[in-house]
Amino acid sequence: MTIGIVPSILSADFTRLGEQVREAEAAGVQRIQVDVMDGHFVPNITMGPMVVEAVRRCTSLTLEAHLMITSPERYIDDFAKAGADVIIVHQEVCPHLHRVIQQIRHAGKSAAVALNPSTPVFLLEDVLSLIDMVLVMTVNPGFGGQEFIPEMLPKIERLRRWITQRGLPCDIEVDGGIHEATAPQVVQAGANLLVAGSAVYNDHESVADAIKRLRNAV
Ligand code: DX5
Repeated sequence: MTIGIVPSILSADFTRLGEQVREAEAAGVQRIQVDVMDGHFVPNITMGPMVVEAVRRCTSLTLEAHLMITSPERYIDDFAKAGADVIIVHQEVCPHLHRVIQQIRHAGKSAAVALNPSTPVFLLEDVLSLIDMVLVMTVNPGFGGQEFIPEMLPKIERLRRWITQRGLPCDIEVDGGIHEATAPQVVQAGANLLVAGSAVYNDHESVADAIKRLRNAV
């Protein structure tokens, strides 16, 4: 199973966002994640479709829009039009999750569902075969630089077992507190896409060195 490092631009230097995206691309990543937050679902406000559009203009990498917002169904088409390739919605805010997944697919995008730390994987039982990826939050969403929650490791294992048993092509992505020490643990548990914000964009090493360090760790 190939392991992908997915830089999250949440911790990037927004005065030179294009450059920071290109640095990640030059370091060989295949995907970039844009963290969208509305100040309702999570206690932070970040960015919207305009930033996805701007990032789209400076890279051909696969773009993930992680929608940490209420009523994400109202914005699927906006993020699709802005150039997101993967649209991630939270199970906790989708009472009609099956319909939202259909909506994402209808927009021609990959559909992914994120689970907060307290949300059990079994809630995805009836849609797991319809989605391309499950994002297991390994922090409570809202901010970069938080502490990894180790209790998520058995959850990742359970999910990986489930996907394998059912022979599904579903990726497992993890997000939050992923760095040199936690990366091997989540890979061992079954994650194959690792979102990293502050471990990639920080002031003590270059993006290239940071991504190399993460790669070497897994
Ligand atoms: C939710 C955000 C963050 C971000 C990664 O809080 O989704 O998890 O992407 O932040 P780090 O890698 O700094 O924990």
